[in-house]
Amino acid sequence: MRLKQEEKKKFDLTMEEFIASKYIQEMKNYVQHGNTSTFTHCYTVAYYSYWLSLRLKTNFDTRSIIRGAMLHDFYLYDWHISDATHRLHGFSHPRVSLYNAKKHFALNSIERDIIEKHMWPLTLTKVPKYRESVLICMVDKVCSIAEIIQCKVATLQT
Ligand SMILES: [Fe+2]
Ligand SMILES: [Fe+2]
Repeated sequence: MRLKQEEKKKFDLTMEEFIASKYIQEMKNYVQHGNTSTFTHCYTVAYYSYWLSLRLKTNFDTRSIIRGAMLHDFYLYDWHISDATHRLHGFSHPRVSLYNAKKHFALNSIERDIIEKHMWPLTLTKVPKYRESVLICMVDKVCSIAEIIQCKVATLQT
């Protein structure tokens, strides 16, 4: 499940703005699951969502997939440390991530939907509107499970 050279080039180009951002780099300081940082988790979800979108016989907005996936957990705190500001993290972090993403980057409606709805079906009423959002919703769950069971194959080292 590796991107071809040309595909990786487009992936890297789309990622450039995020890699250069000190706010995105800050995600390296927070643990997502197991030994995986929030940065690596988002990067991995972006990589595999993009990989899958190119191989399914569906017309996806691949740029929005990469961008939305990279920002989907942009909440900048350690959810393992209990704090009144992030109670019920599972339900609230998509809203926090969207707030941060809108503050630092220009987003289109697909990217906003990806971030806001990625925890569905936990967030019952936030049903993904676009096929891109559905794709990331699924890849995020697979990557999260892989991180929890510490599956080295699934987590890209960044
Ligand atoms: Fe999340
Ligand atoms: Fe996630």
